[in-house]
Amino acid sequence: MKKVIRNELDTREFGIELAKKLKPGDIIALIGDLGTGKTTLTKSIAEGLGIREMITSPTFTIVQEYTEGRLPLYHFDVYRIRSAEEMYELGYEEYFFGRGICVVEWADQIMKLIPEGSIVIRIEYGENEDERIYYIEGNGR
Ligand SMILES: Nc1ncnc2c1ncn2[C@@H]1O[C@H](COP(=O)(O)OP(=O)(O)O)[C@@H](O)[C@H]1O
Ligand SMILES: [Mg+2]
Repeated sequence: MKKVIRNELDTREFGIELAKKLKPGDIIALIGDLGTGKTTLTKSIAEGLGIREMITSPTFTIVQEYTEGRLPLYHFDVYRIRSAEEMYELGYEEYFFGRGICVVEWADQIMKLIPEGSIVIRIEYGENEDERIYYIEGNGR
């Protein structure tokens, strides 16, 4: 499914709506260049889950956990991951196959580890500064 996101407000609405539909164990794989809004979308998903804690870009920690919402949120940024081995070392399976929600920025880095049935959102820049095009696959079920 293709969706045109006109501006940051659309991203926010999309994230909040998506969060409402999420079920335990859902994985959202985000693929898109720097600045396409992966972290911004993650913040909106967190907001929709009822997380008030500030979501920061977890570039140096790979995964951040937020447990105050409707479901636990595990926010991954795998930009620096170079091999599946590194993901095993970090115990990614506990997160991916647990009952929380995983959002993975730069998921293309570890596509082989993304389970079938995940929600994959590829984000591309649109025609103006604020526009983004989402290509969405899967609904988590
Ligand atoms: N439609 C949009 N959705 C999300 N962010 C947008 C949008 N339009 C402009 N922006 C801006 O683009 C930047 C996205 O940054 P960020 O979410 O950190 O991207 P990424 O995590 O993909 O590198 C922010 O500065 C944000 O204000
Ligand atoms: Mg980011």
